[in-house]
Amino acid sequence: MDFSIALYTFFLAIVLFHFIPWIIDAYGIRSYPGPLLAKLSDFWLGWVAFRGHRSEIIHELHRKLGPIVRIAPNHISIADPKAIKDIYAHRNGPLKSEFYDGFLSIVPGTFTTRSRKVHARKRKMLAQALTTESIAQFETIVQHHVCYLVDRLGALFEDTDEWFDCLAWMNYLIFDTIGDLVFGTPFGMLAAGKDTAPVAQDLNATMALYGSGITTAFTEFPAAKILEDRSAHSAHMGVLPAHWRPVARLLPWYREKNRRFQAFNRLTAMAIAKRLAGSEDRDDLLNKIRTAKDENDLPLGREELTVEAATLLLGGTHTTSTSLCAIIYSIAQNPQCQARLQRELDDTSLETADALDSLPYLNACINEGLRLYPAIGQGLPRVIPPGGLVACGVYFRAGTVVSVPSFTIHRCEAIWGDEPDLFLPERWLQGDASKLESNLLSFSIGPRSCAGRLLALMQLRITIASLFRRFNFALKHPDDQMNIKEGFVRRPEYCFVGIQHRASNSS
Ligand code: HEM
Repeated sequence: MDFSIALYTFFLAIVLFHFIPWIIDAYGIRSYPGPLLAKLSDFWLGWVAFRGHRSEIIHELHRKLGPIVRIAPNHISIADPKAIKDIYAHRNGPLKSEFYDGFLSIVPGTFTTRSRKVHARKRKMLAQALTTESIAQFETIVQHHVCYLVDRLGALFEDTDEWFDCLAWMNYLIFDTIGDLVFGTPFGMLAAGKDTAPVAQDLNATMALYGSGITTAFTEFPAAKILEDRSAHSAHMGVLPAHWRPVARLLPWYREKNRRFQAFNRLTAMAIAKRLAGSEDRDDLLNKIRTAKDENDLPLGREELTVEAATLLLGGTHTTSTSLCAIIYSIAQNPQCQARLQRELDDTSLETADALDSLPYLNACINEGLRLYPAIGQGLPRVIPPGGLVACGVYFRAGTVVSVPSFTIHRCEAIWGDEPDLFLPERWLQGDASKLESNLLSFSIGPRSCAGRLLALMQLRITIASLFRRFNFALKHPDDQMNIKEGFVRRPEYCFVGIQHRASNSS
């Protein structure tokens, strides 16, 4: 065949491959507005995700085109608060979409599984580890690492002219805390002042040695960087259709991210191997999940255990450190908020999590930070179940993928008032706070909502209270927005701050 005819046939096949589904319109969604390329191909959303500003771009689309927008051939984004409960709250409602296959590794876990049955079993076992009582039991460990952070920052930066990257130090804090809570030992990042953790060289060899007292060879890797790349890799793979993923994996960018994706499993396996080689007595999260039983009285297998530990590490680190950084940035950028928060903290002698839970302005600052900078801002995609579903009064056919973008809901004037882009903790203290709370999607809602919400809130309260009780914070660039890149988590690239010892506090 002539080369030009082959090329022509190839392009014709590609055009038909994209146009025919659009003409057939199996899900009845052709009438919804959206970019032309998004209606025809998943390439558009893949490109948007790759550029790292997905939430902002989808937000702009909603501003221009209205609350229901088509963002992929089979994906409808719904920026209407009335759709939140319809899509996320029901036990037998929509399930997670194929997007989550991009996060799969080893075996499906609590976060990645798309099966209702598998999820119910794993979530129940995780819930046995994350009860209110166990979280209360973890408070001493959280307080210990926060105290160490305050001491380290005090020794290194207090009253110096030095600016330091607050995001990096929040990473060290949270990796050490979660490392200690899950695996019984911190990674040692606060002490080293560096992003570093041991990563096993061979995953299977390390898993095979669990409990034997022997650990395998390892290399030191930057753990926070590995997790960030894993999150970006998964979020980008997830938006590509399954048949594109093997091809995408051949591209240099994906290949490099995939290498880090694999390193993350080896990091978790190394941490488990070290934990199981040490004292069995410690009642950490790993011990709690290892001893949890399903309805047949069976524990998790060793691969399942690795995946659940990885889920806690992945779910509990960047989300929390990013939120902390965003809250610190917002308070530091608004000196009147900083002063009001410090007055409230000075009037409180107790520093326990329970006492902090009842401080209105502290909690208003945290909620407002979580609202303006949701760690996960994109809509969490769900598949409409057999029989179809009515969301915000609109009928969607079975198989349609839908999502509600938190970033856009968090900026909806009908809920938050005229100035949704401003950091105004006061909005949580006036009017109907329960209406605001029901539209705060930072931890999502329903059966797939965050399993670590209570632990995360405890960490946020203790850290913010301890830091602002001891220091005044200033931003190196107070007029600049944080430079945020989005993988699955929306993360600032850095946030330089300076600290001064406060004259009028008790510490
Ligand atoms: C500020 C901190 C945190 C934020 C903003 C956050 C946010 C979220 C969100 C939005 C989801 C739903 C994701 C989806 O449906 O795709 C989620 C799920 C999850 N989170 Fe968190 N999270 C935080 C901290 C934590 C912590 C500390 C842990 C545990 C150590 C944790 C464990 C999990 C788990 C296991 C899931 C999966 C739940 C399921 O599918 O049943 N998270 N988180």
